[in-house]
Amino acid sequence: MRQARRSRKGLKICSGVSAIVLVILIVVSVTLFFTVFKPKDPLIKPLPAKLENVEFQLFPTLRLNATLGLKATIYNRNYGGFRFKNTTTFVDYRGMNIASIPLGEGSVPARGDINISTIANITAEKLITSPYFWEDFGSGRLNFTSTANLHGKAVVFNLLKFNAKVFSTCDISVQVLTKAVDVNCTAKLKL
Ligand SMILES: *[C@@H]1O[C@H](CO)[C@@H](O)[C@H](O)[C@H]1NC(C)=O
Ligand SMILES: *[C@@H]1O[C@H](CO)[C@@H](O)[C@H](O)[C@H]1NC(C)=O
Ligand SMILES: *[C@@H]1O[C@H](CO)[C@@H](O)[C@H](O)[C@H]1NC(C)=O
Ligand SMILES: *[C@@H]1O[C@H](CO)[C@@H](O)[C@H](O)[C@H]1NC(C)=O
Ligand SMILES: *[C@@H]1O[C@H](CO)[C@@H](O)[C@H](O)[C@H]1NC(C)=O
Ligand SMILES: *[C@@H]1O[C@H](CO)[C@@H](O)[C@H](O)[C@H]1NC(C)=O
Repeated sequence: MRQARRSRKGLKICSGVSAIVLVILIVVSVTLFFTVFKPKDPLIKPLPAKLENVEFQLFPTLRLNATLGLKATIYNRNYGGFRFKNTTTFVDYRGMNIASIPLGEGSVPARGDINISTIANITAEKLITSPYFWEDFGSGRLNFTSTANLHGKAVVFNLLKFNAKVFSTCDISVQVLTKAVDVNCTAKLKL
């Protein structure tokens, strides 16, 4: 009789302790998720770039051929890796698409980085159809934006997989005279 009561008491204590442990575990996991594992936007650091293979002629007709090679390091600050599917980078000038460059597929390791490079061919034919071209050209600066929306999966500890997207945008400013290229990029991660 006494024995049974004691063991029932033991059971109560035991389940009370498990409940507390469970609550602590949940609190710790949730806290970890929102602090350490909190999804962070990737950082994109472009390497110095220059306009290359420039062929330029004003008369009798404007001719401009150049290649804009962009190299950047993508830093993934998350505890999950990111695999992205075949992606296309779009280069726009004043809202008008002037180049589409396949970026292929790839992956960025957890808390690691990858280097990506794209080469865009810039020709006058398209630029000149923009009503802003001569004005910008006269000001000595042509600004472009490049966007790439990476669709893929975030993989945490090879166990958990989430659909994830990374939206990246780069502002590219080309100084016509010196061919210097100034690039800033931002990226947003969406789970
Ligand atoms: C400029 O590019 C266009 C289109 O790619 C090409 O047809 C043309 O031959 C190029 N011009 C020069 C001078 O390379
Ligand atoms: C990636 O997409 C481009 C354009 O949509 C296509 O030409 C290319 O074959 C694709 N590559 C792969 C590996 O699927
Ligand atoms: C990316 O390039 C940078 C500088 O060129 C280099 O330090 C780094 O090791 C490269 N990373 C990878 C993953 O290749
Ligand atoms: C850019 O031009 C080079 C040489 O003219 C060519 O090999 C390359 O495929 C072109 N790239 C794109 C994305 O059109
Ligand atoms: C081009 O970009 C540069 C640097 O961000 C900025 O100072 C300039 O005003 C921009 N020019 C145009 C025409 O948007
Ligand atoms: C890049 O960022 C720097 C510093 O914020 C700024 O001075 C420069 O105009 C930016 N360039 C472009 C192309 O947006």
